[in-house]
Amino acid sequence: MSGNTSSNTGNGMDHAERDSVLHSWCVQDRWNAPTIVGGEGARLFSADGRTILDMSSLAECSNLGHQHPKVVAAIRRQAQELCFVTSAWGARARAQLAAMLLEKSAFESGRVFFTLGGADANEHAVKFARQAAGKAHGWVITRDRSYHGASYAAAALSGDARTAAFADREAFRVLQVPPPYAYRCPFGSASAQDCGTAAAAQVEAVIRAHGAAQVAAVMMEPDAGTNGIVAPDSYWPALREATRVHGVFLVADEVMSGFGRCGEWFAWQRYGRSAQPDLMTLAKGLTGAHAPLGAVVLSAQVARALEPQMLLTGLTYCGHPLCCAAGLAALQAYEDEGLIARSRKLGQEMFQSLLGLAARHPVIGEVRGGHGLFAVIELVRDRASREPLSPWPAMHPALQQLLQEALAAGVSFAARGNLLLLAPPLVIAERELGDALALLDGLLARLSATLTTTADSDRPGAGGARS
Ligand SMILES: Cc1ncc(COP(=O)(O)O)c(C=O)c1O
Repeated sequence: MSGNTSSNTGNGMDHAERDSVLHSWCVQDRWNAPTIVGGEGARLFSADGRTILDMSSLAECSNLGHQHPKVVAAIRRQAQELCFVTSAWGARARAQLAAMLLEKSAFESGRVFFTLGGADANEHAVKFARQAAGKAHGWVITRDRSYHGASYAAAALSGDARTAAFADREAFRVLQVPPPYAYRCPFGSASAQDCGTAAAAQVEAVIRAHGAAQVAAVMMEPDAGTNGIVAPDSYWPALREATRVHGVFLVADEVMSGFGRCGEWFAWQRYGRSAQPDLMTLAKGLTGAHAPLGAVVLSAQVARALEPQMLLTGLTYCGHPLCCAAGLAALQAYEDEGLIARSRKLGQEMFQSLLGLAARHPVIGEVRGGHGLFAVIELVRDRASREPLSPWPAMHPALQQLLQEALAAGVSFAARGNLLLLAPPLVIAERELGDALALLDGLLARLSATLTTTADSDRPGAGGARS
């Protein structure tokens, strides 16, 4: 162990940390990330005195920016009053937060179960759906190219090529269907809307094939997906209709898409009241990442079914008062600062700017998203054939290089496979957003030049960091 706590790599990486900590979604011996000691708004401050503009809200979770003063103050107040009470007892901040979530989602007479994060929210949603439906071993339908968490059952729910080897779908009773990936439509549809309709029809076909009595739930992201797919507008309403007709619970994974990311409190709200799911899972933006918290929001129907039953689940720190106080202050901040509407407006502007980049850089195959401050840039070798820059989920060295150069220039972008994901904090200043996109413009020009001047080495790397 080096014992050297300062960087000599020029990016703020702490050698002592590299020698002692296992970092998630990283190749350990290539770990080379900055150590962060503070933040404000969309900016992070590194141990070596640099400022980094955060264009991904870290793991698409710091929707309120970093160190939001009202959330920090609420955590401090709660710590002075009461740090912990078991989740089987009552805690004021927890009850207030539940009431506010039910109000914002219009889940009248519903209930909220608090979790530690997104993966266990999704696992609990499946448990509740099965228990409420009386289908203890009922199938759960999810889609390929999805991400629902890294714990064993959540990994089985996910359609993630990188973790497929340990994702035992049969054991967890998971069925997978193709995604509504209109740019490369698995159903061969000519239009995005047709692709969405075909993807929803496929879910219905799987329900029929297995028998509705054997299927407990369908779990999907309603709009933008963490794995870079943005569902066409035709998709979610059709899915809602099909699941309603067959009496199968629909679970919206809003872990990433919630809290303004897609321009609404919850992404499904884009499609109106009739598109309300039966269960909804939350995390990330719930506290704006100021404290670890997730939730399952249950409709009145699901809650009623569970009411007389023993709830054989819960983790010690579920609904921790410190985290619930952070959640309550976070929700208040979204509301007081008009951040949901801001995300919608800035998201559209960001999307227009990205279309401008696409017009200049043929390496951009498609730009999608833009309902809120979330957009995906899909990179291709050839626009006409749509050949991806690297085969999914590998990342081309030139894209890895782009990320490094951006970081060296003080801007952090997220990428996965051949996709660049833009998800800045909803509080980002317009000038900061403009600066980041101007930098990206230059970096894409350089990436294109690299691709054309070097004989393409076909050495895709180790994939991207997970959110
Ligand atoms: C859509 C979605 N669901 C679930 C998760 C898992 O959340 P967590 O990392 O809090 O377990 C994530 C995390 O990236 C996500 O994006």
